Amino acid sequence: MKTYSEDEVKRLYADANAYLVQRWEPRPGYEAPTIVGGEGVYFWDVKGKRYLDFISQLYNVHIGLGNREVIEVAKRQLDELAYSSPSYFNVPQIQLARKLAQITPGDLCKTFFSNSGAEANEVAIKIAQLYRAAPKIISFWDAYHGSTYATVSVGGSARNRQHPGLSIMEEFKHVPSPYCYRCVYRKTYPECDLLCAEMIRYTIEKEGEKTVAAFLAEPICSWAGQVVPPPDYWPRVREICDEKGVLLIFDEVMTGFARTGKMFACEHWNVVPDIETYAKGITSGYVPLGATIVNKKIGDHFDEKGFPHSYTYSGHALACATSLAVIDYYYKEKLADRAAKMGEYMIGELKAMQDRQPIIGDVRGLGLFMGVELVANRDTREEIVPKNLTPEQRLNPEYNPIVYLSDKAKENGLIIGSSPGTGILRMMPTLVITKEQVDEGLRILENTIMETAKKFNLPKK
Ligand SMILES: Cc1ncc(COP(=O)(O)O)c(C=O)c1O
Repeated sequence: MKTYSEDEVKRLYADANAYLVQRWEPRPGYEAPTIVGGEGVYFWDVKGKRYLDFISQLYNVHIGLGNREVIEVAKRQLDELAYSSPSYFNVPQIQLARKLAQITPGDLCKTFFSNSGAEANEVAIKIAQLYRAAPKIISFWDAYHGSTYATVSVGGSARNRQHPGLSIMEEFKHVPSPYCYRCVYRKTYPECDLLCAEMIRYTIEKEGEKTVAAFLAEPICSWAGQVVPPPDYWPRVREICDEKGVLLIFDEVMTGFARTGKMFACEHWNVVPDIETYAKGITSGYVPLGATIVNKKIGDHFDEKGFPHSYTYSGHALACATSLAVIDYYYKEKLADRAAKMGEYMIGELKAMQDRQPIIGDVRGLGLFMGVELVANRDTREEIVPKNLTPEQRLNPEYNPIVYLSDKAKENGLIIGSSPGTGILRMMPTLVITKEQVDEGLRILENTIMETAKKFNLPKK
């Protein structure tokens, strides 16, 4: 591993501040780790500090960093053919499209390649609108589907949408997700009879069936809070979409590729969407790639009409060859089964931690796609992030327990997923994580939760 002197480190951070546009909500004086290497579930930064990563970088490096098998395939493909124009075909692109048709559920069969999750969703939205000749898309409040204009508009997350001057496409509508822990209708499952699914029917009817192209969602909505829906939720939504002639699009950018204990999360509900989108785990982060797969009927439609859309890097040979190697690795190492087993173990341990730590309000997840919701008071489910914080206080670890916890965990060598507005901690380690590494991470997590509870005098009585 290359080492950096103190002066070099200082210079790198000065240059990062001088030359990089800051993402999301910048915190004055905060230094994100500058990463120089990694292997499996660990990575290290320019200062030589090692981190155990419970979120697979950005929930995408499913097979861990530094996988030699995949790196060798990518190197060979670079030697052979890195790239060809989308006006032609290339061999890895054709092979990957065929592979996706084989491993995806139902009659999903024809793929359009892009470079990211947002692009894959843009493509899905455009395909649905053109196929149905209808502009509206319905999706969840609090969801994230990317940062391009259509995906910002379709994702209902305020953090993404509510910025002065940003234009939002008004034809995209939203409904609450099946977030049973904080049901907006104040109902309890199963007595609720899936009122949240019925709201989709209601919204389609009110908007006008002919104007709605699709309902788009993650099978387990991450930003809304790692929301695992009840068993009959997706079958009911499928039924509603069929009845109304509206397409069902699953965004499996985060949930796809063995993450949840199945190759694709929709398999947990035996529900096949009309269109499905992928990125992240499709290459496990080794190179960028997005994909949108459609069913036969939609594929046939565009065989005839053509899809008016193109990217210079659509079907990039290096990306497609790497994806094929990554997909082979999922099957060879049985990573979906491994995610199911390790996830069960980790959720069991987190539930045991919940018994010991009163600020853990809820633990939920499927496979290695998990969420821990911290609360100020378990009985009332009062949110852990105080409501009355100023924008500056919200990002300040002295005022916001979640920011404090996330900083402390990092200091203690553990990376967890969080955002300053909610008490939800996301846990999505690489699928090759071992039991010992899970235990190591959970020990750090529990100590950090205790430090946070002590500092903020939680739980509230
Ligand atoms: C569910 C979901 N969809 C889409 C995206 C956008 O993917 P990308 O960042 O590759 O554009 C993300 C990114 O985190 C995501 O989590």
